Amino acid sequence: MSKLWGGRFTKETNKLVEEETASISFDQKLADEDIQGSIAHVHMLASTGILSEEEAEKIEAGLKSVLQKIKKGELAFSVENEDIHMNIEKFLIDEIGPLGGKLHTGRSRNDQVATDMHLYLKNHTEQIIEHVKAVQTAVLNQAKDHVETILPGYTHLQRAQPVSFAHHLLAYFWMLQRDKERLQDSLKRVSGSPLGAGALAGTTFPLDRHQVAEELGFDYVYPNSMDAVSDRDFILEFMSAASIMMMHISRLSEELVIWSSQEFQFIELDDSFCTGSSIMPQKKNPDVPELLRAKTGRVYGNLIGLLTVLKGLPLAYNKDMQEDKEGMFDTVETLEGSLGMLAPMIDTMIVRKENMKQAVSEDYSNATDIADYLVTKGLPFREAHEIIGKIVLYGIDHSKYLLDLTLDEFKQFSGLFEEDIYEVLAPEQVVANRKSYGGTSQEQVKEQILLAEKAL
Ligand code: ARG
Repeated sequence: MSKLWGGRFTKETNKLVEEETASISFDQKLADEDIQGSIAHVHMLASTGILSEEEAEKIEAGLKSVLQKIKKGELAFSVENEDIHMNIEKFLIDEIGPLGGKLHTGRSRNDQVATDMHLYLKNHTEQIIEHVKAVQTAVLNQAKDHVETILPGYTHLQRAQPVSFAHHLLAYFWMLQRDKERLQDSLKRVSGSPLGAGALAGTTFPLDRHQVAEELGFDYVYPNSMDAVSDRDFILEFMSAASIMMMHISRLSEELVIWSSQEFQFIELDDSFCTGSSIMPQKKNPDVPELLRAKTGRVYGNLIGLLTVLKGLPLAYNKDMQEDKEGMFDTVETLEGSLGMLAPMIDTMIVRKENMKQAVSEDYSNATDIADYLVTKGLPFREAHEIIGKIVLYGIDHSKYLLDLTLDEFKQFSGLFEEDIYEVLAPEQVVANRKSYGGTSQEQVKEQILLAEKAL
């Protein structure tokens, strides 16, 4: 088969080279964007007088027909035509004849592929932002139901201080909020139009780059043609934001896995989000959060992969850059799939309040509050800390929690203890007393919910 660039060649491409260097197997995902970009290009070629109106109309009709046929599966992509750009150009020529060859006037695949990638990522970033909002909504709804639900808060995975379950969940709401803001911010940069940059240096035709940018919904035009065709940092930025978000999702997933274990029993995931074992009939496994946790790996991998591809490239386009695609598609698809499962999984999870309650009444997580109590009676915090440490040790030795100690026992450690010590020890009270801004008191958490609603 003759190549679109075959003029200066005297030999056929080696078959293996053809197979291995073609990108059509994966960049066919860009068919829509490629044709959208071509239609904007052809409109501009007509309005600048480079093509006649009639030529432009025929090319546009041909492109639309090609797209329909691609969608119906009526056209077979070929490795000989390398990539989506040349496959479509060939289809167009087959469709409308040699006139199709005028489409590529003033354009290179270098600005074409960059345009396709910007269009694809802009569209998908917007969709992913909607997915993030759905997860935030699910988190917020659960939080609203559980302001009064109390569970141990942990540091080092050791019980630290009791917290409202809503407070714990809302921590993820704010992580997702920042993740969403990072994506929203990246849209500013993904909204640049490389089209019209040509291969690297611009073109001899009087193109109107601003017209195509506007038609394609881009906010600005890359001011430097070499930068326009060489830049892939808009993808790196997306992948970085995606990596941070997956790290957050992975942490949440890890908690869901832990909480749904027999040891914790703080939540139960809906049957529709779990799977069984082929051998152990009793099993109900949290596969979804486990996979979400693991998928973080590929998202990081894609980021590191592309950073590495780009790090040594001289300007401008290099074939290396074709390796930007699979990682980007994979990151987009992983995010869309992961966020898509996460929202309904959170929505449908059952929260075992009683078990959480039991956990906080069987630990020493109110110890800080006794120290704070002695501080309000005038003792320096450091001395109070020492005394409570001794009381905890005494409790452990005598199999008693702090609430079980008698006033006489407390008094053995400090004369400052009075009957009112019991008022600060109940877990609900421990939580309620943390009224500082952003703290876990029910009152503060309700304020936080209002802020979260506003942020959505
Ligand atoms: N398939 C190529 C890519 O994805 C398109 C650009 C090719 N440009 C070139 N000069 N060979 O990067």
